[in-house]
Amino acid sequence: MTGASACEQDVFTPELLGSIERDLEKRVDGAAYAPNLRDAVRHALLGGGKRLRPVLAARCAEAVGGAATDALACGAAVEMVHAFSLVHDDLPALDNDLLRRGRPTVHVAFGEAMAILAGDALLALAFQSAAAAPQHADAVVRSVASATAQMINGQVLDTLGGHAAHSTPQQRLHSIHSQKTGALIRCACTVGAISGSATKVQLDSLTRWGDTIGLMFQVVDDLLDVTQSAEHVGKAVGKDEGAGKLTYPAVLGVDATRGEVDRLRGEALDTLAAFGSTADPLRTLTEYLAGRTR
Ligand code: IPE
Ligand code: IPE
Ligand code: MG
Ligand code: MG
Ligand code: MG
Repeated sequence: MTGASACEQDVFTPELLGSIERDLEKRVDGAAYAPNLRDAVRHALLGGGKRLRPVLAARCAEAVGGAATDALACGAAVEMVHAFSLVHDDLPALDNDLLRRGRPTVHVAFGEAMAILAGDALLALAFQSAAAAPQHADAVVRSVASATAQMINGQVLDTLGGHAAHSTPQQRLHSIHSQKTGALIRCACTVGAISGSATKVQLDSLTRWGDTIGLMFQVVDDLLDVTQSAEHVGKAVGKDEGAGKLTYPAVLGVDATRGEVDRLRGEALDTLAAFGSTADPLRTLTEYLAGRTR
């Protein structure tokens, strides 16, 4: 990670990132795709992205006494749903974006029909991966399915509306952000903990932690849209306002949004209070996610 602090490098280690990347590649190469579909799926999934969700799964498995390798399959499943959500999010009918992870979006590189189909393929591959989890695969599949449905519901609210009639802008923001982005991040933590054979108490705490950092993640994404350059973040910025998106900076202003990030950061750290040093990487991740610039 360029510009990462020493603490972050202890969490996003080359060893873990390498094993995540090789695992994803193996799963794609094992699928019986036509060469053009394979190229589009590889473009969408491989060689870019922070890999936050598989890293969360691995570090949550370790926090409860399991091994990072136990969480590779479930982390891959969440990353594949995430990649599918990005391919479709960028389509002309949704956010109409040309740049993703510093490269052309899938519909720009391969055409719109292939982008739709590559997204569909990633969703199916995600569930093959979840079903192949070495520990508690049934619970992993249920969690990934439920988070995927929430992500899609959130994307509908974000793009097409459909909110409860008398909800306030703050309630709508919370509903969009916790579903379109928070659900998959929370799921990465839940399935990681499940894969590490967490106790019920540990699972509840890490799910609550995932819930809080998941919401915080999208609040920060909204801030990046108004404070960073496309070159730095590798995707278009400055588009949310013009597209009429309901964002934290639009509703609260930039300063109050930064205050909200700080409040969520504190809340997230509190949910880790009962854990010892095995959760130190999760504390580092909390700080990193609150302060990230890309
Ligand atoms: C971007 O997610 C989309 C949102 C949910 C805001 P990431 O910022 O995790 O994207 P990559 O995977 O690193 O490209
Ligand atoms: C993305 O929200 C949420 C999903 C892809 C599910 P955004 O539309 O804000 O994400 P970016 O900014 O395009 O990455
Ligand atoms: Mg969007
Ligand atoms: Mg978008
Ligand atoms: Mg955004």
